[in-house]
Amino acid sequence: MASDIRAVIAGTGSYVPEKVLTNDDFARMVDTTDEWITTRTGIKSRHIADSGLTTSAMAVEAGRAALADAKVAPADVDLVIVGTFTGDRPLPATACRVQHKLGLSKAAAFDLSAACSGFVYSLSTAWSFIASGRYKTVLVVGADQLSRFTDYTDRTSCILFGDGAGAVVLKAAPATEISGLLNCELGADGSGYELMTVEAGGSENPASAETVTARRHYMIIHGKEVFKFAASKMQELVGSAVKSCGLTIADIKLVVPHQVNTRILDFAAEKLGLPKEKMFVNIDRMGNTSAASVPMALDEARRAGLIHKGDVVVLVAFGGGLTWASMVVRW
Ligand code: UT7
Repeated sequence: MASDIRAVIAGTGSYVPEKVLTNDDFARMVDTTDEWITTRTGIKSRHIADSGLTTSAMAVEAGRAALADAKVAPADVDLVIVGTFTGDRPLPATACRVQHKLGLSKAAAFDLSAACSGFVYSLSTAWSFIASGRYKTVLVVGADQLSRFTDYTDRTSCILFGDGAGAVVLKAAPATEISGLLNCELGADGSGYELMTVEAGGSENPASAETVTARRHYMIIHGKEVFKFAASKMQELVGSAVKSCGLTIADIKLVVPHQVNTRILDFAAEKLGLPKEKMFVNIDRMGNTSAASVPMALDEARRAGLIHKGDVVVLVAFGGGLTWASMVVRW
């Protein structure tokens, strides 16, 4: 981005609900096995929010941790963006609840809906606000409660999803700072609108007794088509992301991808010539958490000591819409 202002990730945080559902729990609910889920997806368990725990509550915990990590006072935050498609309510924005509960007294607040790409889209948006000079400190959250929109009678999709939230604090820094966001690419292909969708509850099919009876408030996932899209998009995105910064695959310290399926992540790493250990994977314990997936993984990778100052980290996500997004970061 052509600007003298750098945007630096100053802190990260994440939150997952306590309750865990294992593959064996699913084997008691639908016709599946631990072996099928493990070999087809890489997932062993996922965290699920108890009733009463809202998306905003998870976002608040992740945001609080990121602010503490960045040593930023709530009153200094200019803007909070929450990437989510499972907000507390259709109206108002979940970000407004987060703003109030965290005491971000001067912050503007809005939600951004780009499904599993929601966090990287939000980070890119935050970067634009910083690069333009409008804001100095932005809290960027990815939070989703897919469990609320999961049909637990559909074995092809219910085993995939978990709940959680992740957050980063993005701060303006002078052009002399070596750390910072280097490049982002966003994209969409609306011809894939039907591939991952919740048909009812919006203006097209408002909630009614019929929509509830017909189970149209749950996610419909065309897994095979999404699998093909994600597998090819993943390698294309990482390849073009580093190229656009004049870097190569060998310069990457860590790819932090949307946790979609270990088979997709392994396939992409192999095609890219990226050593497997440089592709961060936590889907085994988290499942697919949509917009929360990348910031949760980023926070876990950092806390595990896998990222140090100067390292090149590539964030990459793709999902409903269809949408996709990448971000190259020099830590
Ligand atoms: O973040 C974006 C959202 N994520 C996604 O959309 C997920 C992307 N897709 C995937 O990860 C994979 O496509 C799945 C994990 C969803 C499915 O894996 P697959 O290798 O594409 O399996 P499949 O759909 O081709 O199904 C193979 C078989 C079928 O049986 P038949 O027709 O061969 O007899 C399915 O009915 O596996 C059956 N099956 C299951 N069996 C046991 C489907 N789900 C299950 C299950 N347990 N949970």
